Amino acid sequence: MSAPAYDQIGINYSDIRRADPRIEAAIWEALGDARTVLNIGAGTGSYEPTDRDVIAVEPSPVMIAQRPAGSAPAIQGVAEAIPLEDKSMDATMGVFTMQHWDDVDCGLTEVLRVTRKRIVFLTLDLDVTELMWLCRDYLPEIIEHDRKAFPTITRLQTTLPNVQVDTIPVPADCTDGFLVALWSRPEAHLGSHVRRASSTWHRLPPAVIENGLDQLRHDLDNGEWDRRFGHLRTLDTLDVGLRLVTAELLAK
Ligand SMILES: C[S@@+](CC[C@H](N)C(=O)[O-])C[C@H]1O[C@@H](n2cnc3c(N)ncnc32)[C@H](O)[C@@H]1O
Repeated sequence: MSAPAYDQIGINYSDIRRADPRIEAAIWEALGDARTVLNIGAGTGSYEPTDRDVIAVEPSPVMIAQRPAGSAPAIQGVAEAIPLEDKSMDATMGVFTMQHWDDVDCGLTEVLRVTRKRIVFLTLDLDVTELMWLCRDYLPEIIEHDRKAFPTITRLQTTLPNVQVDTIPVPADCTDGFLVALWSRPEAHLGSHVRRASSTWHRLPPAVIENGLDQLRHDLDNGEWDRRFGHLRTLDTLDVGLRLVTAELLAK
């Protein structure tokens, strides 16, 4: 999935997918002393630091058009052919993007080529994400599909140098409405405007989605969802597999 897909998915992206300040703080901290930052697969500019020199690279014009006024400059391009010189950036960040690249190995090689110090990816560990009620009990097809798209944490650890993996608990009121961020807000998945901003709902066959959502609607109406999972509504955060993967390129 690449730019043409996000030219469809991205239409109301910035309404639903607003950077969450707590996740943002973790990303900014991981960027450390980097002064220049490439945001690869930058989309509408979520999570870009405002106190460093950022260059965004993003294939979709629809996403680029939603970048707020005053955002960092954006170049139309893909991870597999980053339009920057070798070792021209202190750090590269990438948020929820690798699963969309046509060729992850090629994209990672390119990121390593243009980065001097540090690489920071926000991604999912599907071994954890698959346990979340939506994926486990309503739409297991989500994980079946995602396993073909997301690089595993082990693959990142073997491809990148000196990797640290941090668990990022997702707040119950996370402002970035990515699929599993709605772990305590099951009703949100029934809203088509919410689903439109997550690529999952564009990838699965409509009949599969309808089946899963019918079951969810039924379980919410008759109280079954709350009997089984209502305790989640009382939690502040949950580990749904969100991981910050940081690679140090200069460490010995
Ligand atoms: C889920 S969005 C994330 C956008 C942004 N990083 C954020 O956190 O809101 C995934 C982004 O990856 C971009 N993308 C798709 N294929 C790509 C590729 N081959 N190289 C770089 N970015 C790509 C999409 O256009 C989209 O903007």
